Amino acid sequence: MRMYNDKQEAIKQWTNDPCGLLGAKNYQIGTREFYERVDRNRYEEYAPWMKSVMEFDRYGGQSVLEIGFGMGTDLFQFARAGARTFGVDLSPQHLEIARKRFEIYDLETNLQLADTEHLPFADETFDVVYSFGVIHHTPDTEKAVAEIRRVLKPGGKAILAVYHRDSAFHLCVFGGYLLHLRFFRESYRENLSRIEYREQSDACPLVKLYSRKQFATLLRDFSSVSIECNHLDPTHFGFLHSLISPDLVRRLEPRYGWYLTAKCVK
Ligand SMILES: C[S@@+](CC[C@H](N)C(=O)[O-])C[C@H]1O[C@@H](n2cnc3c(N)ncnc32)[C@H](O)[C@@H]1O
Repeated sequence: MRMYNDKQEAIKQWTNDPCGLLGAKNYQIGTREFYERVDRNRYEEYAPWMKSVMEFDRYGGQSVLEIGFGMGTDLFQFARAGARTFGVDLSPQHLEIARKRFEIYDLETNLQLADTEHLPFADETFDVVYSFGVIHHTPDTEKAVAEIRRVLKPGGKAILAVYHRDSAFHLCVFGGYLLHLRFFRESYRENLSRIEYREQSDACPLVKLYSRKQFATLLRDFSSVSIECNHLDPTHFGFLHSLISPDLVRRLEPRYGWYLTAKCVK
């Protein structure tokens, strides 16, 4: 079986194919039109549930650290609502695209290249640590969570989203792997890595999945944790998609959605 350097694969993946670029493909990166299109795609088309679940505008005046800020889309929402924002990411390309966004809108922020498993901040620095779709891509997720907890102030809040193992989407991915006999050609790790949009490189980013129980166990050191499940689309049911009504999607989403979001208090 082929071995991968997970962090190098992550850098390769998101430097060649920035996360969310697909939704703004025909726009010039770094322009106001580009960022506006990225926002519309994210909050109106891809994940219309996101703004109400993440409550970006609730933290005005507080210090918010985002782990794996990508193109800076969510961090910008916190900043626009008056939060003091900080961010770390592994990808230099993401750093450049996110910095440019804040520059264009003349908003202050503090972004740097750093690893979530070794955060370059003192203990008890932040009111809020936010991370969407990131800690499941790093090899030592336990360490990442310990670091997040370490840099939070007592009583501070972590908002963390990961991929859901027991989701309709994963069932469909796993079913396809078996049905098309892909296991003869590639490992499941390689198969899963292809759920990340990849056009410009042959990167193989690490993708881990969590059941609700596994996610709760990962977060056991927080004093309180509540987990919800979101993100379900008829296409997540593969060839059965035409049988799935919008009403059924609404009813199944809290159990079989693709993202688990935890809100945790230190
Ligand atoms: C799927 S993207 C999500 C980006 C952004 N949060 C979003 O939702 O658009 C994963 C991000 O995690 C970053 N990442 C992966 N491993 C990391 C690590 N160990 N430390 C910091 N960032 C990491 C990647 O560079 C990439 O920006």
